[in-house]
Amino acid sequence: MPCFYRCIRSLIWRSCSSTTPVLGSMSEERWTAVDRYIVETLVGSDPAVETAIEAGRAAGLPAYDVSPNEGKLLFLLARILGARSILEIGTFAGYSAIWLARALPPGGRLITLEADAGYAERARANLVLAGLAGAVEVRVGPALETLPRLAREGHGPFDLIFIDADKRNNPGYLEWSLRLSRHGTLIVADNVVRGGQVAEPDNADPDVQGVRRFNEMIASDPRLTATAIQTVGTKGWDGFALIFVTAG
Ligand code: DHB
Ligand code: MG
Repeated sequence: MPCFYRCIRSLIWRSCSSTTPVLGSMSEERWTAVDRYIVETLVGSDPAVETAIEAGRAAGLPAYDVSPNEGKLLFLLARILGARSILEIGTFAGYSAIWLARALPPGGRLITLEADAGYAERARANLVLAGLAGAVEVRVGPALETLPRLAREGHGPFDLIFIDADKRNNPGYLEWSLRLSRHGTLIVADNVVRGGQVAEPDNADPDVQGVRRFNEMIASDPRLTATAIQTVGTKGWDGFALIFVTAG
């Protein structure tokens, strides 16, 4: 791609709070309209939870929540797997945790890790609102500290792991996820496209480099088979990766 376009695209991605790349307002409007249509027709929603998440946005929190469509995808994946134990790295306000916990059978557990005590508090409140507090444990602290603790305590292997924290640490999160996995564990990683920046080898953003290193680790690990899917919608242009653990 000519440098001009690459530079403009990077500028657009960064100047729009990095979470909402605007690649032409008409596209953005249409993607949002289609997302709304999909949510209304297929996804469904819990008005109390949606209101709480909206309140967080209104209070100036970043737009780190997964879209409802992606939340429903996480729910479906957990159901398809019959997941009884789920690990989430990066709780934020608890929206994806709610989708994942709703998929658990009776007695199933979700452990979700959050570095920021304020976000964790908000997540606990949202989980109470959703009636799911009993199935979910929110652990506060940097995940590179709480993950080794989980392993020491004998947790795992988990059936499903969702990685959605600071992307620069994705390589470390992958290492610990693999220690907490078994043959048949599915790992899902959010935000792996980053407005297209993931395809730029020299991109200076440490989060882009974290995702690129993460992908290289996956590619070189014979236990893993994976793909990534690009998405457009209410959160702009991004994507997620699916990584299947085939041994361990
Ligand atoms: C970012 C993080 C997220 O988890 C997300 O869904 C969107 C953006 C970010 O760090 O920019
Ligand atoms: Mg995310």
